[in-house]
Amino acid sequence: MEVTETFAGIALPGHLHTQESLGFAAAFAFRPTDVLIATYPKSGTTWMQEILTLMFSLGDARPAKTIPNWERAPWLEQIYCREALRDTETPRLLTTHMPAHVLAPALQRSKAKVIYVARNPKDVAVSFYHFHHLAKFLPDPGSFDAFLTQFLEGTVHYGSWFDHVKGWLGQRHLLDILYVTYEELHQDLCGTAQRLSTFLGCPLAPGTLAALEQHCSFAAMRENAMANYSLIPPEIMDHSQGRFMRKGVVGDWRDHFSPQQNALFNQRYQEEMGDVELPTQWPMA
Ligand code: A3P
Repeated sequence: MEVTETFAGIALPGHLHTQESLGFAAAFAFRPTDVLIATYPKSGTTWMQEILTLMFSLGDARPAKTIPNWERAPWLEQIYCREALRDTETPRLLTTHMPAHVLAPALQRSKAKVIYVARNPKDVAVSFYHFHHLAKFLPDPGSFDAFLTQFLEGTVHYGSWFDHVKGWLGQRHLLDILYVTYEELHQDLCGTAQRLSTFLGCPLAPGTLAALEQHCSFAAMRENAMANYSLIPPEIMDHSQGRFMRKGVVGDWRDHFSPQQNALFNQRYQEEMGDVELPTQWPMA
């Protein structure tokens, strides 16, 4: 049974969050050495967690293969991550789906680094729709058309994609933040890892790039139970309804959007993002 929690004006899954856990995130005491992965859901969060785990372990795949991703890179706001947040050593790898305005005050008081991962919102909408079928903590999405309408209105759980991206982009002169796209990871994993390494001031150990290529591919992560949520009980994620590591491609929206849905999406995108300077732009046609 799905339960909703509302915080900072957005709906969130009540099975993963309480007002207390959300308040804890908003007042989080960041350390200067913290690295925070911030994403709207389905934008490549788990992929980035895997990449940074490998970089932090200097290419040693054992942590990525023996520790679940939510313990390696715990979510600040989720109930079940509290123990991991307490235990994680420095430098801490952290994750959030929270909008920028919730975390910005605490982050601005710190020197923590933020890596914001964004993905073409058309593919986010498709991935999120499918995820609603297996994630029992999310509401029944109804038809794809109905879900897309809610996605464009920003009434889905985790709120508006547009507000999320614009909110975090708005922090780029106030925080130490690197903006990375899912599409860049696809196009050039090693080049993006080099960029991450420069940003983090963490030189890549010999062999790390080879380890990244081997362990962070879609095929390898699909087989890694510590990265694909297959160990989560079916009452929370029902894997008979679909896999977390679903397709892992760029442009899957073309197989889901009707011409009318595409036109509506483009119109909304233009209204919301027309004036926004994105560091990387997606092909929207
Ligand atoms: P799809 O549903 O389109 O397949 P998140 O981790 O933010 O929830 O994002 C999940 C999405 O990222 C899923 O997209 C998943 O397949 C994709 N993904 C995860 N790891 C990936 C990888 N190594 N390569 C490509 N896509 C990956």
